[in-house]
Amino acid sequence: MNDMHDDIQEIILDESDIRDINRRLGEAITKDYADKNPIVLSVLKGAVLFTADLIREIKCPCEIDFMAVSSYGNATKSSGDVRIVKDLDGDISGRHILISEDILDSGLTLDFIIDLLKSRNPASVEVCAFTVKDIENRVCKTVPKYVGAHVADQFIVGYGLDYAERYRNLPYVGVLKPEVYS
Ligand code: IMP
Ligand code: MG
Repeated sequence: MNDMHDDIQEIILDESDIRDINRRLGEAITKDYADKNPIVLSVLKGAVLFTADLIREIKCPCEIDFMAVSSYGNATKSSGDVRIVKDLDGDISGRHILISEDILDSGLTLDFIIDLLKSRNPASVEVCAFTVKDIENRVCKTVPKYVGAHVADQFIVGYGLDYAERYRNLPYVGVLKPEVYS
């Protein structure tokens, strides 16, 4: 059997880091959204693991919904060319939306999603990003209200993040060995 762990060069966030992040974010969200019954909007597929853990740390009522967009294909750089693959199920007018995202890279995906959601008259739209890449001169408008961890500007996988649809099931976040994708 091909062992996924052998493809990882370095672990950036281990399982205990991830637990701490989710607890901290959940606590902040619980305070801010106590009476708002937010819709936690998970961006498929990458944010699924994060969303599942995060909502268990949110101790006030909330709902979840899902949206899928595609921006990368199998590449490791954003094209800015975003398509909706699956829209939310419910009406969001008057609702508080909290987008849960796996990673903010260029931010182009979130800019697109937020513009679209705002055209549907929600009460508010905020972003909870599990990771934010430290990038100089980011051009996007999106500023996440909640950030799990800042990570260096390098391609990472695991805990929902994929390379060509693989590695999402790693329980930690790590950096791939260069030879895996070169
Ligand atoms: P953005 O539009 O450049 O911000 O890209 C956002 C999406 O690209 C994320 O939701 C991820 O699915 C994917 N992505 C960006 N950086 C990485 C990475 O380092 N590893 C895996 N996926 C990534
Ligand atoms: Mg992806």
